[in-house]
Amino acid sequence: MKVSSAFAATLSAIIAACSALPSDSMVSRRSTSDRLVFAHFMVGIVSDRTSASDYDADMQRAKAYGIDAFALNIGTDTFSDQQLGYAYESAANNDMKVFISFDFNWWSTSQATEIGQKIAQYGSLAGQLMYDDKIFVSSFAGDGVDVAALKSAAGGNVFFAPNFHPSYGTDLSDVDGLLNWMGWPSNGNNKAPTAGANVTVEEGDEEYITALDGKPYIAPASPWFSTHFGPEVTYSKNWVFPSDLLFYQRWNDLLTLGPQFIEVVTWNDYGESHYVGPLNSPHTDDGSSRWANDMPHDGWLDLAKPYIAAFHDGATSLSSSYITEDQLIYWYRPQPRLMDCDATDTCMVAANNDTGNYFEGRPNGWESMEDAVFVVALLQSAGTVQVTSGPNTETFDAPAGASAFQVPMGFGPQSFSLSRDGETVLSGTSLKDIIDGCVCGIYNFNAYVGSLPATFSDPLEPPSLNAFSEGLKVSTCSATPSLGLTSTTPPETIPTGTITPGSAITGAATTTSTISTTSTISTTSTFISTTTTTTSSAATSTTTGTCIAGTGPDNYSGLCSFCCNYGYCPGSDGSAGPCTCTAYGDPVPTPPVTGTVGVPLDGEGDSYLGLCSFACNHGYCPSTACQVES
Ligand SMILES: *[C@@H]1O[C@H](CO)[C@@H](O)[C@H](O)[C@H]1NC(C)=O
Ligand SMILES: *[C@@H]1O[C@H](CO)[C@@H](O)[C@H](O)[C@H]1NC(C)=O
Ligand SMILES: *[C@@H]1O[C@H](CO)[C@@H](O)[C@H](O)[C@H]1NC(C)=O
Repeated sequence: MKVSSAFAATLSAIIAACSALPSDSMVSRRSTSDRLVFAHFMVGIVSDRTSASDYDADMQRAKAYGIDAFALNIGTDTFSDQQLGYAYESAANNDMKVFISFDFNWWSTSQATEIGQKIAQYGSLAGQLMYDDKIFVSSFAGDGVDVAALKSAAGGNVFFAPNFHPSYGTDLSDVDGLLNWMGWPSNGNNKAPTAGANVTVEEGDEEYITALDGKPYIAPASPWFSTHFGPEVTYSKNWVFPSDLLFYQRWNDLLTLGPQFIEVVTWNDYGESHYVGPLNSPHTDDGSSRWANDMPHDGWLDLAKPYIAAFHDGATSLSSSYITEDQLIYWYRPQPRLMDCDATDTCMVAANNDTGNYFEGRPNGWESMEDAVFVVALLQSAGTVQVTSGPNTETFDAPAGASAFQVPMGFGPQSFSLSRDGETVLSGTSLKDIIDGCVCGIYNFNAYVGSLPATFSDPLEPPSLNAFSEGLKVSTCSATPSLGLTSTTPPETIPTGTITPGSAITGAATTTSTISTTSTISTTSTFISTTTTTTSSAATSTTTGTCIAGTGPDNYSGLCSFCCNYGYCPGSDGSAGPCTCTAYGDPVPTPPVTGTVGVPLDGEGDSYLGLCSFACNHGYCPSTACQVES
């Protein structure tokens, strides 16, 4: 394996630029030739990956959007080394770069030597990001770790840019740079701002840049923050940070600021809703599928793309020359913030609050999110943007370049259009309605992100839905993706009538006709059409064979046989699970969903959760293992 010549050239430029820099140069005066963009990648949720190729799609997609390296966040899981090996190998195969980001929620600051040894273990691999000819390493938290000892154990050749906190008074003399994690306005104490305690992201920039005194700064760029874990897990936490138009504003500010590095927070942290990577990026379910299902964020990466290109060029603002096609990117929460979900929410009872991050009911900070539909227009030349949110329609003059708009949230379909000189350029209706209800019964403060032209279909895959029903109080919501493809023009015939549970909507699988225009996604309707399910499994089969048969020990044999037949075979792919896949091939169409929410019999282990959920929802609900949730 060798470093590609293109990247080797970049590295030489980096080295040359760095050695030429005076040590006291301010961030804004540094050379722009060595500006890099990272994306924070959670390794802790990808234990189900079984080969380097399982990382290829992420590497290729990130690279195509201009991201230079993944910051691989690792805890102390037993699978970390295997996954790091795959990630480094895939990076090398795809001309990407990676580096380790030690998560001190799990690592102890007393482990400087072990951390240094871990750095040495991976630092010479071809996928490693080198900066200033040194092994690039970062962290989440870690104030107090002995940096000199860490570097020494690593062999000395380390560029250490951890997420230390200047406000803690940490000794920064041995660090080479710093990551600021706080990409969201806060109260200075890891919760949403209040009138009396209000720390902006820019104030965080200033604090870090001052403390760094000329050393490189890794500035955060995050699109959103919402987490809603209740007593169903041990890591209960339930709060939001103000997000709304944050990502758009932040990218503009970052071009003005011009830091050495930017870290997108994150690629795949579904649990905190700040993922910009695809839902179908393979991962296990930490319980976040309850708010991530049917909530793709891919449009946010489209939003970032021209800004990343401009940042690499050293531009201080985004000119329309960075926009290669007209695009509307829109997002909104699926339900208003005052919707009362107390009767069915998952966070209505006491739960572990050791972290101080758990709140009952509506997430802490909810009032910092506006009930609005947000739109960013990326335009090659000026145009007219029209937004219709339920009954609210507003029209805006949008200039060439990037601009942002918001419209008060209204119930029902969400439609968007771009016109220019009286001609419609883009037009379409979102796959996700805003409902007068609670999605799956919960306070879901995650965002749905769509775009015109529409992007690809991006469903959560079954292993990423394993914990979907844990804690859910409603039985009308199933662990199955329901979105099809967005239409980029208004549908010629609008489907009418009520979608009843289990009914198939014909014609949606292979055409771009919308399936969502009139289907209200709510707690009382089913989400599913058979055809969309088929579409999603067909879409994934093009890269890897889908499991089409499988077995399991004794009590599991029936469930495994049924589920593996349709591509869901927990245990066959390195994930935790009792099943073994025995044959791969073209995906077998999944039977229509029934809407039946199956859970394990009382007293059975979690290993039945995903199997009962999937099987019961597709018509096989063996009473020896599963029961229907009442
Ligand atoms: C915090 O400050 C920002 C910027 O000045 C302001 O827009 C925001 O409304 C403030 N938040 C609160 C809760 O006062
Ligand atoms: C959890 O702890 C935080 C911080 O002490 C507190 O503000 C919050 O009210 C607690 N949550 C619950 C549900 O008691
Ligand atoms: C399987 O069934 C047997 C007999 O009913 C029972 O004793 C055993 O606990 C079951 N195993 C699992 C893993 O549920």
